[in-house]
Amino acid sequence: MKIFYFTATGNSLCVAKRLGGELLSIPRVLKEDKRYFKDDKIGVVFPCYYFGVPKSVESFLREAVLEAPYTFAIMTYGNMDGGGLRRFRSLAREVETRFDFTAKIKMVDNYLPMFDIADQLAKETSKEIEAQLALIAERVTKAQRIHAPNPFASRITTFFSSVTYHRAAKKAPGKFQINQDCNGCGICASVCPRSNIVVEKAPRYLSDCEICYACIHNCPRGAIHLKAEKSAVRFRNREVSLKEIISANN
Ligand SMILES: Cc1cc2nc3c(=O)[nH]c(=O)nc-3n(C[C@H](O)[C@H](O)[C@H](O)COP(=O)(O)O)c2cc1C
Repeated sequence: MKIFYFTATGNSLCVAKRLGGELLSIPRVLKEDKRYFKDDKIGVVFPCYYFGVPKSVESFLREAVLEAPYTFAIMTYGNMDGGGLRRFRSLAREVETRFDFTAKIKMVDNYLPMFDIADQLAKETSKEIEAQLALIAERVTKAQRIHAPNPFASRITTFFSSVTYHRAAKKAPGKFQINQDCNGCGICASVCPRSNIVVEKAPRYLSDCEICYACIHNCPRGAIHLKAEKSAVRFRNREVSLKEIISANN
């Protein structure tokens, strides 16, 4: 089994690790030439962004050829997934890639412009992540062919969310602030899935941001901030190390 994953703060990697098999980072795959993959099972695990799909996941879906008797996609999200899976499934249809099983899993929300991370961490237990994970793992093991339902609200969110996401990504470089605690260690650049950060004395952002906030959440000194963030608290899934995020995205 092969699982392709995209992660900024570890939730999606935590899910991928739990399912097992050979784990392949989407940002790394996109930086290499190979596009054809074959196995008995192939899965994709990714976070919901703006009720939709991160840019790298969309590129991967458009470029990769996945050949397997059983294929699945799992979307992690924080509070409201809107049309995230609907968007993924419609992209998959567009590129004629079949997915036999699609599911979503509610985890800690890392979206700093809207949420106080301390509050999100306080809600973690109520999300029963372990139980959700166990059910998904069982369904994948049994190669079940089930799809998460498309709630009616998801139809409304899909189009607007994609436009908003791409607009926000364009404006993103001007929204980061680096404070005096930065020692130029370069970890922000190492965890950036799009190689969009150059570290001279301090990080400088180029124009191809995914707005994943891996740079902010993984900065060991908490030195990177958003101009409008709801929290100084940072998040990384406790089952995932900084080393694993670097290895996934560098
Ligand atoms: C740019 C951005 C947009 C997000 N949009 C949504 C969203 O629309 N709905 C939602 O429930 N969570 C949203 N989230 C939260 C993430 O989907 C969630 O925390 C995810 O599990 C993070 O996965 P990761 O740890 O693998 O990066 C967003 C996060 C980011 C950074």
